[in-house]
Amino acid sequence: MERDPLAFLDKIAQDYSRLVRVRFAVITATAAIHPHAVEHVLQKNHTNYSKELFDYKILRRALGRGLLTNDGPDWLRQRRMIQPAFQKSRLEQYRTLMSRAVQEMLDRWSALPDAIVDVGVEMHRLTLRIVGEALFSLDLTGDAVVFGEALNRTNELLAKRFFSKAPPFVPIPNDLRLAFAVRRLRGVVDQMIAGRRSNPEDQDDLLSRLMRARDERGAMSARQLRDEILTLVAAGHETTATALAWTLVELAAHPLERERLEQECQKPTETLPDGVSRTRAVIQESMRLHPPAWIFSRKAIQEDEIMGHRIPGGSMVLISPWLTQRHPAFWENARAFQPDRFIGKQRGTDYRYFPFGGGPRLCVGADFAMAEAEIVLGAIVSRFRLEPLFSFPVRSRPMITLQPAGPLHFRLHAL
Ligand code: HEM
Repeated sequence: MERDPLAFLDKIAQDYSRLVRVRFAVITATAAIHPHAVEHVLQKNHTNYSKELFDYKILRRALGRGLLTNDGPDWLRQRRMIQPAFQKSRLEQYRTLMSRAVQEMLDRWSALPDAIVDVGVEMHRLTLRIVGEALFSLDLTGDAVVFGEALNRTNELLAKRFFSKAPPFVPIPNDLRLAFAVRRLRGVVDQMIAGRRSNPEDQDDLLSRLMRARDERGAMSARQLRDEILTLVAAGHETTATALAWTLVELAAHPLERERLEQECQKPTETLPDGVSRTRAVIQESMRLHPPAWIFSRKAIQEDEIMGHRIPGGSMVLISPWLTQRHPAFWENARAFQPDRFIGKQRGTDYRYFPFGGGPRLCVGADFAMAEAEIVLGAIVSRFRLEPLFSFPVRSRPMITLQPAGPLHFRLHAL
């Protein structure tokens, strides 16, 4: 698992399709592979499963008690305050800024003298810009570049901490650097919040909505607000960037699928009869094979039983979209890129497919992310054909998100 986690998960999938107990050094965990087992943990018996585990504790060093890392009644309170800002009706407003941001990126691409881009870098920059504008009406890649830099640095150091061999309670030199980067990052967010407080009527963005949000206990504390802002930026940009980068890789590897998509994008108002556009289906299929959040965990609070297997109280349960979404027991031609499987079938959440998690802790930004990915992909495909300058298959780099390994250089051909 430590050496090559994805190969390890693939090996598990060869031999098991329900649940399997895995031992790492001092920790024993159960991997929930079967969709029913995943549903049990994320939905049916979710109150028995908490996030009080080392991976979330590491994330808390940077994100504090934001929505992703919080738990229990505090989490519920925050979720109720934040969710309205992500309602479908709010998305319309974000769509406009998403379209503008991607068109500006494509204008810049048009002017490149060598017509070569690294799509990994470009998608990262674009999604950071979009989330920054939606959250605080700031271009985090431009004026507020300090924020972008501090965030990237924190992200890097967090990933090192995650994959360090030392257990979380054993200090390593990286911890000090991480603490320093987090302090800097929090300082920048605090400044943004203070700026907004002195000018509250300035903007109608997510930050101002979170500042106005009230429940029976009143408004969020300054610290909570900062944790939430950081969480939304961190959870909201790398995931979407990774999904988009993999989608462009898959389209480059499957020219027929790209042509079909180009045809759809030339008539952007056309959707397929059941309302699932091909653009959306291509993204969904890409996230099936390359789920950005490829593994996450829960702690069983009390002893439990799942599909006849005992889950000891206090033990760790692993949930991995990589494992379930690519498993031949649940998917035909499981490893093939076939967007058509998402067309014509309105998919309920049957937990064969859960790139955004599920149950009450379903990703709060799922609709935002899908709208963003559709707008960005549609715009790219309508203006450029991308010729890959790397060879296939592209290897996966399992960091906090599942990234494509190496630079992804493409030559641009304007259409
Ligand atoms: C393709 C893009 C994305 C993917 C694959 C993704 C995936 C996920 C997953 C799997 C979870 C559940 C984790 C768990 O249960 O432990 C989650 C939670 C979350 N995501 Fe996303 N996410 C994406 C985009 C976004 C965006 C755009 C935002 C915000 C702008 C966001 C904010 C959050 C937050 C705040 C949570 C915690 C929700 C809670 O526990 O109440 N995500 N995401």
